[in-house]
Amino acid sequence: MNADAKKSVLRMIPYGIYVLTADDGRGNICAATVNWVTQSAFAPPLVVVGVKTDSGSYKTVKAAGKFALNMLGKDQKSLAFTFFRPADVTDGKLSGQPYRKGATGAPILIDAPGAVECKVTSIVEQGDHHVVVGEVIEAHFNRPLTGRPDAAILEMKDLGDNVFYGG
Ligand SMILES: Cc1cc2nc3c(=O)[nH]c(=O)nc-3n(C[C@H](O)[C@H](O)[C@H](O)COP(=O)(O)O)c2cc1C
Repeated sequence: MNADAKKSVLRMIPYGIYVLTADDGRGNICAATVNWVTQSAFAPPLVVVGVKTDSGSYKTVKAAGKFALNMLGKDQKSLAFTFFRPADVTDGKLSGQPYRKGATGAPILIDAPGAVECKVTSIVEQGDHHVVVGEVIEAHFNRPLTGRPDAAILEMKDLGDNVFYGG
């Protein structure tokens, strides 16, 4: 296989940008910017997320058995960069961002336009990222949307010419 072709062709896949959050109820709260996300079934409503196995988020999501996907808005590039690093909770904020606890206990970022909460139904343990399958059990709108919902999401291509995750 041609390594350059593999990299470039895989980078043709378009991605939205999300903040994956979870709280394991034992003092571990995580938040990580992720892009390897898609819906994978209508009934039940399933989403899948590729999560790095050596990350704090992987450990916390696995222990919690639940997670939230906070959708970042078109204008929230700086929020994406905030959660490329491990998150901390100080003064009731998550890396400086206001949040509330969702039904699953996972942090819901108040400034994100919307979020879904999921219970983990299985984890496909292959490769350096495992595929976490989640059933959507709650959905939140933090502010009204106008136009197509998928026009409101921050995308990988909005992060700059040299930012990629994939390839
Ligand atoms: C552009 C970009 C996209 C990312 N997408 C993912 C992803 O889809 N899955 C993932 O596990 N990590 C992804 N990461 C890495 C996480 O953001 C990073 O590992 C995490 O925030 C580290 O914190 P943690 O150790 O608390 O999880 C991405 C990083 C960048 C720069």
